[in-house]
Formats: sequence, C-alpha cells, structure tokens
Amino acid sequence: MSSSPPRREGHRSPFIALEGIEGCGKSTQIARLAEHLDRNGRAYRITREPGGTPFGDALRDLLLRPEGEPLDGLTELFLLEAARRRHVREVIVPALIAGSIVIADRYADSSVAYQAGGRGLSTELVEQLNDLATDGLMPDLTLLLDLPADVGLARVAGRDRARDRMERERIDFHRRVRAAYLELARRRGEERYRVIDARRDIEVVTDEVLAAVAPLLKGRDA
Ligand SMILES: Nc1ncnc2c1ncn2[C@@H]1O[C@H](COP(=O)(O)OP(=O)(O)O)[C@@H](O)[C@H]1O
Ligand SMILES: [Mg+2]
Repeated sequence: MSSSPPRREGHRSPFIALEGIEGCGKSTQIARLAEHLDRNGRAYRITREPGGTPFGDALRDLLLRPEGEPLDGLTELFLLEAARRRHVREVIVPALIAGSIVIADRYADSSVAYQAGGRGLSTELVEQLNDLATDGLMPDLTLLLDLPADVGLARVAGRDRARDRMERERIDFHRRVRAAYLELARRRGEERYRVIDARRDIEVVTDEVLAAVAPLLKGRDA
C-alpha cells in the first residue's frame, strides 16, 4: 500500500479538516497552523462549517442562533448538507484546483458526530447524505482534537462571546459527540485520522498538529 494519503484526481493540494467538540481548540490551532504556512510562504484557504459561503452563513445563523426555534436532527442535517454542498462546490474544490491547501474548521464528519452521535440519527444515513453533498470528497487528513466534554465546555464558558445553540446543549450530548468522533477515528484509521490529546498546553498541541500535517506539505512547491 502506498504511504501517501488518498487523493482525488485533479486535486493537487492537501485538504485538511479539524474536528472535535466545542472548545477543543480548533480555531486556536487553525490560526497557529496558518502562521506556520505564512512563514513558509504556502498558499492556503481557511474555511469553516456550517458556512463557508454567503448561502451557508445564512443557514449557519439559522442553525446556531440560541434564540432560534428548536430543530430536530433531520432538519439540522438537511440544512447542513445544503450548506455543505455549496461549500464543496464553490469554495473547497476551486481552492484545491487552484493549488491552495484547504483547512476546514469542521467538515462532513461533524454531522456524523453531532447529528448521528449527538442527535441519534443513523450514522449510515448521515454518511450517505454526506457522500451526496460532497460528491465523495473527503479530507486527506483529519485532526481530531480530543477532549473530555466538561473541559471543552468550561473553555467555551470562558470565551467572550455568547454560547450558540450547540454549545448550550447538555453535557451528555457533548459526551455522545466526543464518543462518536473517537469511533470515527477508529473506523477511518490512522492514515486518514489523527487523534490529538487537546487537554495539553496550546503550544504542545500545535507541535503535534504541525508534525501531523508535515508529510502532506512535503515535496510540494510553495
Ligand atoms: N490547549 C488549550 N489549553 C487551554 N485553553 C485552550 C487551549 N486551546 C484553546 N484554548 C482556549 O479555549 C477556548 C476555546 O478554544 P477554541 O480554539 O475557540 O475552540 P473551538 O474552536 O474548537 O471551539 C479559547 O478561549 C481558547 O483560547
Ligand atoms: Mg472555533
């Protein structure tokens, strides 16, 4: 078996996703990864889900605003998949084709963790819709910043912005989300998924993030 990560034909640059529960440090680590890429003169595009396009950002607002009406898991999933489809077609694929490294703050596996693990929809159903929405495009590498739910929520509480609808879910919800992520990591295997212990200091986590992405960045022109 080849040691290089699987790639879709025509996409020359790496596609990296960061996943994990609220407060695990995705935004923090993406900013630090971006600094590293800047220092090395690499072209990259940072994007996020839900959102990533004006259409997706409007759906993000519907999904996350705390005063919004309660949504069942399937309604959430349909909104997320609609936003995801636009995100893939308008942002991710064009950036990859243009030669930029794409770094996604959440992607399709967030739906496996939140709408299947958290809300109780079938994992198979979520993966089928993910596959349709993304045309089968999966990240070359996913970094799962793993953290107990109580630690993540305590960090979120310390952040100076109002908590969104997901962040306001009960601790059990976040425990199920974490468990679903760990199960995904086990299922996808180490080549595609790296579990990083996100309880440690920010700098220590960054070292591990950079070590994990280094093989993907090697041997490519700036
Ligand atoms: N390794 C860490 N140790 C302690 N605090 C952290 C760590 N990583 C991030 N934080 C803090 O925790 C909060 C949540 O981090 P953030 O990057 O916003 O998480 P996410 O984007 O995954 O929700 C922020 O206030 C951030 O400064
Ligand atoms: Mg964030």
